[in-house]
Amino acid sequence: MKDIASILSQMTLEEKAALCTGASAWTSTPIERLGVPEMIVSDGPHGVRRVPDVHALGMESLPATCFPTASCSASTWDVDLIRKMGEALGEECIALNVDVLLGPGVNMKRSPLGGRNFEYFSEDPYLAGELAANFIQGVQSKGVGTSIKHYAVNNQEFQRFTISAEVDERTLREIYLPAFEKAVKQAQPWTVMCSYNKVNGTFASEHHTLLTDILKNEWGFEGLVVSDWGAVRDRVAALKAGLDWEMPGPQERRVQAVVEAVRSGQLDEAVLDEAVRRILRIVFKAKETPKTGSFDVEAHHQLARQIAAEGMVLLKNNGILPLKQPARIAVIGRAAKKPHFQGGGSSHINPTRVSVPFEEIVARAQSAEIIYAEGYPSDDVFRQDLIDEAVRAAQNAEVALLFIALPTYKESEGYDRKDLDLTAQQVALIQAVSQAQPNTVVILNNGAPVVMSAWMENVAAVLEAWLMGQAGAEAVADILFGRVNPSGKLAETFPLALADTPSYLNWPGELGVVRYGEGLFIGYRYYDARRMPVLFPFGYGLSYTTFAYSNPRVSASTFHDVEGVTVTVDVTNTGTVPGKEIVQIYVCDRQASLVRPEKELKGFAKVELQPGETQSVSIHLDFRAFAFYHPRYRQWVTEDGEFDLLIAASAADIRHRLTVTLKSTLNLPCILDKESTVREWLADPRGRAVFGPMYAQMEAATRKMFSGGEEPRYGTESTIGMDVMEMFKDMPLLSVLMFQAASLPHHPEEIVAGLLQQVHRMNP
Ligand code: BGC
Repeated sequence: MKDIASILSQMTLEEKAALCTGASAWTSTPIERLGVPEMIVSDGPHGVRRVPDVHALGMESLPATCFPTASCSASTWDVDLIRKMGEALGEECIALNVDVLLGPGVNMKRSPLGGRNFEYFSEDPYLAGELAANFIQGVQSKGVGTSIKHYAVNNQEFQRFTISAEVDERTLREIYLPAFEKAVKQAQPWTVMCSYNKVNGTFASEHHTLLTDILKNEWGFEGLVVSDWGAVRDRVAALKAGLDWEMPGPQERRVQAVVEAVRSGQLDEAVLDEAVRRILRIVFKAKETPKTGSFDVEAHHQLARQIAAEGMVLLKNNGILPLKQPARIAVIGRAAKKPHFQGGGSSHINPTRVSVPFEEIVARAQSAEIIYAEGYPSDDVFRQDLIDEAVRAAQNAEVALLFIALPTYKESEGYDRKDLDLTAQQVALIQAVSQAQPNTVVILNNGAPVVMSAWMENVAAVLEAWLMGQAGAEAVADILFGRVNPSGKLAETFPLALADTPSYLNWPGELGVVRYGEGLFIGYRYYDARRMPVLFPFGYGLSYTTFAYSNPRVSASTFHDVEGVTVTVDVTNTGTVPGKEIVQIYVCDRQASLVRPEKELKGFAKVELQPGETQSVSIHLDFRAFAFYHPRYRQWVTEDGEFDLLIAASAADIRHRLTVTLKSTLNLPCILDKESTVREWLADPRGRAVFGPMYAQMEAATRKMFSGGEEPRYGTESTIGMDVMEMFKDMPLLSVLMFQAASLPHHPEEIVAGLLQQVHRMNP
């Protein structure tokens, strides 16, 4: 271990300032006289994009394995597989001389239009957090660092450098931060990359609450915070907020600004020292792993193939799949010969090799005759001749395999999608081919949902093959021919139409602001609350076999929040082929003091089962599975009461529901104040204890007043035609008392102040 303190004490102010900014697009600033080496970083996330000359900008990179992008890898729901992918990425970093891989990307898919959704895992923070933690642990187990990104609330590309994401604190804590929180607490990524955008008016790169208070102090992040490339505006403000390392470099003016700020007293040198300490720790840690040797190209290609096979989602199947050795197969669509397997932008990998769907089909089709038709052109023009040719091919075959890839220009970093549509040509093609050939199977290559209502009904099967990575073609062919039983499930909802989506009315913002008006309700949380039908629900995916869930049980029907509870269910493969099932546990809070989503994913497991085999699947639910973030207490809270545990095969396929009773161990302070309503006083245990007797008197007096002193008619047929007490309940206690001030012994303000004193004396 290097003596960081000693090196720091020998550094000049200029050297410290220089270290806090990169030396080039991909390297840190070395300090030769003190033996501080250069650290090399590279994108990420689903492959290593190592440019040959790290001191120059440039897109063309050295060959590396292009794994499936995050939409696909997330759909595996397989944390062990994601960890293996991380390990493989770590090995490639070592071979390609990369110290830190810039990934994973864990932002929420707020809208299916988000341009980088293909790089992000899910619409659900729990799932994204579990996957991210395992990804990071995989990479870092090899002695290579990661950079979890983009922290925080980067959910769109529109004006991504400037837009202010306006999100309330509870939504931030429950939806947009938990994946980062989980990954930081469980896996300690070496670096966290801040996002470009503003969060509630402040640039993420200058956001003290996010970078220092929450990330470093509350979650205990030990690594360094790096800026997204070009995200820093005011270097000094960023340092003060907790942004340790600015990228890319060199930025001579910025370095000078830091030096001057320290000299003028505007920046405390201790703040700079803290950033330097964090950077030095990571730089030296990186150098503990020698970057030599080569990686196993073939093994990694096979791993990419396995991830693709497990992440692809069979959306529809009328029984045509797996194919039963047809004699003539029509293979239609450009993507069959020109595979579309990754998205555009900084994550673009130069693959070691690329398998081609057409060739993989030929290799598995035995003696079948294969007829190919292009189907659609590379650009967005309408070509009826290509459709006619495809129809002829389909008519001459027993089955049509239709490869539909969303055009590359539709999905990229830097801009969002404008719609959820395939091209007009592609829709017309699917309709014409499926009309001519009932055995039409659509294979989709896209990184985010497309709408399908115009053609779904008439096709025999649909396989969501995603941006499937360099080996995806083999996975597609394996699934089509039944060599692999599909087991992926959607990590995001597929909506019926764009106008149905949760953020539709608040997207993409204007005048520099995007309001997260849907709050907690993104993804299935929204469709649940609105009781809306969707095309395919979150957590959904078909298999060539079937699974039965039986014997659901919990470790305790009443439990304390800190202990949590374990749910167990027996899962049986009731079909004839081996398969894998993803069991999901959603938690539903039956009654809460604040609005909560109808259900939230809090656990999952993927199990492999032979035909007829049964396995017990146990999933532990901890404190956080039941808690919500209370913006008034500014902490995660649990409340006494009943919760339903939903054991499910998807968000829309609940197999069992168990009810348990939680006992909260929290002793929360009373948060009543002089604005609190009568209802709030009564709902709070301490408030009720103190105010209860007075309330009883008020109620009796009110009844008397409005019933003319006779038989109380209050609540049934009050003389003024209203339930007066009900009206009072939603008024501040103070206001209610003001109406009765004349008959009270003290002024209402004194009475309320006295009550508040009493409750606050009872506080823990
Ligand atoms: C992207 C990051 C990426 C960085 C370096 C930025 O534009 O937002 O995700 O890691 O460039 O290429």
